[in-house]
Amino acid sequence: MPTRHFLTLNDLSAVELDLLLDHASKLKRSWRAGEVRDTLKNRVLAMIFEKSSTRTRVSFEAGMTQLGGAALFLSPRDTQLGRGEPVEDSSRVISSMADAVMIRTFDHQTVTRFASVSRAPVINALTDDYHPCQLLADMQTYREHRGSIKGATVTWVGDGNNMCNSYINAAQLFDFQLRVACPEGYEPDARLVSEAGDRVRIVPDPEEAARGSDLLVTDVWASMGQENEQAARARTFAGYQISPALMSLASRDALFMHCLPAHRGEEISEDMLEHPGSVVWDEAENRLHAQKALLEFLILGQLD
Ligand code: CP
Ligand code: NVA
Repeated sequence: MPTRHFLTLNDLSAVELDLLLDHASKLKRSWRAGEVRDTLKNRVLAMIFEKSSTRTRVSFEAGMTQLGGAALFLSPRDTQLGRGEPVEDSSRVISSMADAVMIRTFDHQTVTRFASVSRAPVINALTDDYHPCQLLADMQTYREHRGSIKGATVTWVGDGNNMCNSYINAAQLFDFQLRVACPEGYEPDARLVSEAGDRVRIVPDPEEAARGSDLLVTDVWASMGQENEQAARARTFAGYQISPALMSLASRDALFMHCLPAHRGEEISEDMLEHPGSVVWDEAENRLHAQKALLEFLILGQLD
């Protein structure tokens, strides 16, 4: 069996994604019931972080421990990767000792290059282009609150960034309509939009995009690595805020999600996280459960 990787959502089929999310909810119930599970006993996850993280690091590290394994935190400050050792050489060595490798980095090619010679499964834990692990948690959260997302309308408000690109992948795999409300010049990857066909529509006006929607989602205006664009982006994105007023245009029981960290007063209003439709804390917690399911799938090749 060739090694499976998870670099974008497209690395799993729609059927596998459904099974994985079922398994994630099962793992959540079992963990909450206090059941001990050691399916990944003696297994090691290497975690390479070239960008900051709270949720991703804690969820992968806690997840490995809860499954009986261990996780290694590797920062470029302390490894030879940070001193210029080629990605492929690092991959050959790390994947000869670890059972899976998780990478958070800038250039998406770093994860594809790493995976190209890796003996162990490689997980994309965010690049400039994609954030597929977050989509697992978002899709799990939606189905736990509302059932299947198939046929639903989802509205993305804000930057056409890594999260938005992963939502485009999700629209095709989970079969929902995605409207993207973003300022001109900040649209998601044009190739992805065109490949998605009628699943994805750019609707520049956030009010028009939100109308009748089942889920509103946003993310920071300036992503990691864009800190020097923060002020200019704050001006450009001023009209692209999710607030209770915008939510009131969506369907009556619409949900609100944000991958976090959130900037109150920027992409969301001060009171948005407390809105009755907000499921952001469940969404954050589901990173743990969805990734435990992912780790079992990639390392053990099973989802039960
Ligand atoms: N949502 C998310 O990936 O959060 P962190 O940057 O804290 O890992
Ligand atoms: N788009 C954000 C997501 C953070 C989890 C970033 O890349 O910084």
